[in-house]
Amino acid sequence: MYVRERGPRTTGPETTPRSGDHTLTEAILLVGGKGTRLRPLTVRTPKPMVPAAGVPFLTHQLARARAAGVEHVVLATSYLAEVFEPYFGDGSALGLSLEYVTERDPLGTGGAIRNVASRLRSGPDDPVLVFNGDILTGLDIRALVATHSASGADVSLHLTRVADPRAFGLVPTDADGRVTAFLEKPQTPEEIVTDQINAGAYVFRRSVIDSIPGDRPVSVERETFPGLLADGAHLQGMVDSTYWLDLGTPAAFVRGSADLVLGRAPSPALPGRCGERLVLPGASVADDAKLTAGTVVGASAVIGAGARIAGSAVLDGAVVAPGAVITDSLIGAGARIGARTVLTGAVVGDGATVGPDNELRDGVRVWCDAVLGAGAVRFSSDA
Ligand code: GDD
Ligand code: MG
Repeated sequence: MYVRERGPRTTGPETTPRSGDHTLTEAILLVGGKGTRLRPLTVRTPKPMVPAAGVPFLTHQLARARAAGVEHVVLATSYLAEVFEPYFGDGSALGLSLEYVTERDPLGTGGAIRNVASRLRSGPDDPVLVFNGDILTGLDIRALVATHSASGADVSLHLTRVADPRAFGLVPTDADGRVTAFLEKPQTPEEIVTDQINAGAYVFRRSVIDSIPGDRPVSVERETFPGLLADGAHLQGMVDSTYWLDLGTPAAFVRGSADLVLGRAPSPALPGRCGERLVLPGASVADDAKLTAGTVVGASAVIGAGARIAGSAVLDGAVVAPGAVITDSLIGAGARIGARTVLTGAVVGDGATVGPDNELRDGVRVWCDAVLGAGAVRFSSDA
């Protein structure tokens, strides 16, 4: 038995969708991944709980689901599972009924979906939404459900087009949008048959979820979808070219946070107004500091005189000393950035200290609690 059941079980008639009523929807959110590509941000915090534009990223997804009419969400948790429920509770603050199901050992994406089936309230033919927990998108969720109902599909998938599809699941479709193959993370050039990828949002006919094996890890991408296709099931793709970003890497996460602040990525959960900057209550920003391009400054963070911060996220309690220049970077909670230090495309873990006059560039990851002395790392020759 993999399931350790947590949270309230609420199955009152007032919240139970009627079988066949395709307007009421419930959703499963997959939030159990280890987020390895995002380290050190995910050393202490699971990826969906890393703050983007001032709130844990998951808040944006939950708020968008609620706005689309979703009332009941089951979070499929595994890695650092214990942090979700203390923050989101029963979901009522977001107008949702939230439940949590934790895998003792990770069950993979398909296994995780199957593992929460006992919590679903939908009838066998009802639509159940499933979301990857790291996608920032303007997807019209209602349109995906409507496409699903209209086409009578077993599973419907949101698809998007990307320039380089190799890091994703490739999903070619026929002229009617019917999925013809599912190729997860193609390894050879011959496999790159389309630029359409799985965008990480699905509508499942509930009975399809019940048919996934419940006693072992299953990948929905590598096993369930190809298996359904081989069995002649109807998988429908809906290409939607709205804003879409997988926040799986530090650069993407920083970009996503800035786009939320700028209003390029829609979210009802932004804790303030869209604009060049978002400064959370309790932060202290020097009068002549410049915050631009979607920079967010977290609660009780301190930004010193003359600092220039563009397109970056400074998390709660971090301190940026005078004259620092920070671009497209993430500064972890409680981290300290020294005077005149230049950071471009950098991630500084929670509690780390980067001393004054350092210069850190493209893709550098400073681990949580690491200490870098004054002028320790430079890219310039300073000749
Ligand atoms: N509960 C649970 N258990 N969740 C899991 C597990 C697990 O064992 N493994 C992964 N997840 C969750 C992750 O937390 C994430 O929200 C989601 O499943 C997808 O995992 P990622 O690790 O982010 O996958 P990916 O980005 O490499 O690929 C997936 O997303 C792409 C779109 O961004 C695939 O679905 C691709 O087909 C897709 O194109
Ligand atoms: Mg991902």
